[in-house]
Amino acid sequence: MKIIMLGAPGAGKGTQAKMIAEKYGLPHVSTGDIFRANLKNGTELGKQAKVYMDQGQLVPDELTVKILLDRVAQEDCKNGYVLDGFPRTIPQAEVLDSELTKLGEKIDWAIDVEVPDENIIDRMGGRRACVKCGATYHVKYNPPKTEGVCDACGDKLILRDDDAPETVKKRLAVYHEQTQPLIEYYEKKGALKEVDGTLPMNEVFDAICAILG
Ligand code: AP5
Repeated sequence: MKIIMLGAPGAGKGTQAKMIAEKYGLPHVSTGDIFRANLKNGTELGKQAKVYMDQGQLVPDELTVKILLDRVAQEDCKNGYVLDGFPRTIPQAEVLDSELTKLGEKIDWAIDVEVPDENIIDRMGGRRACVKCGATYHVKYNPPKTEGVCDACGDKLILRDDDAPETVKKRLAVYHEQTQPLIEYYEKKGALKEVDGTLPMNEVFDAICAILG
């Protein structure tokens, strides 16, 4: 099963993608996590991506598409995956489709997690992320057992650099301009499903499971 998570920054794509990955035994592939891991490891790709991420801009397609295609070509992705944060532009979606068509495959579901912009700023300010394992928390809606410490690996939790309110506003503008058109793109392909992302996390997940079966 090949699934794409769509939605604004902070809509809960990552939260739901991890839950889907666990329940259905699929790898969770997040381009944002791949860039952050590269940055942490001091790679050239990480340094290049950071410049765009810190400004709330998209990393150019030339850098992004290759890392995604390399990742989904790995053995653990042969029975499917959950893509979180990719595609983010129509050209990215077209490259993915054309690569899948060559393999006789297609995207099964594009799940749009819908959350209005007003709710997003509140969510981002309260998000805490683990730099080591990528787990995500929220100080109010999904707090870790011990404040500032990751439940999963014990490392410290941080506020992401790109979660500053001004950068979030920029990311939202970029989302509406460049990523939202993908909703219509996948609707035309008959793969689109929409869920209400303002509900509590487990209710959002129940709605997604009802779609995936
Ligand atoms: P990326 O890491 O993909 O960020 P994003 O898409 O902006 O999404 P987020 O991770 O910020 O949010 P999310 O929707 O996953 O929400 P989450 O589950 O954490 O990308 C970062 C940057 O990398 C981009 O800006 C760009 O520069 C670059 N990039 C990445 N991919 C790219 C690509 N393909 N092309 C070009 N550039 C790319 O939830 C948010 C918070 O809300 C959390 O605290 C969570 O606990 C809480 N929450 C979740 N669900 C609920 C709920 N139902 N109720 C209450 N709280 C909730």
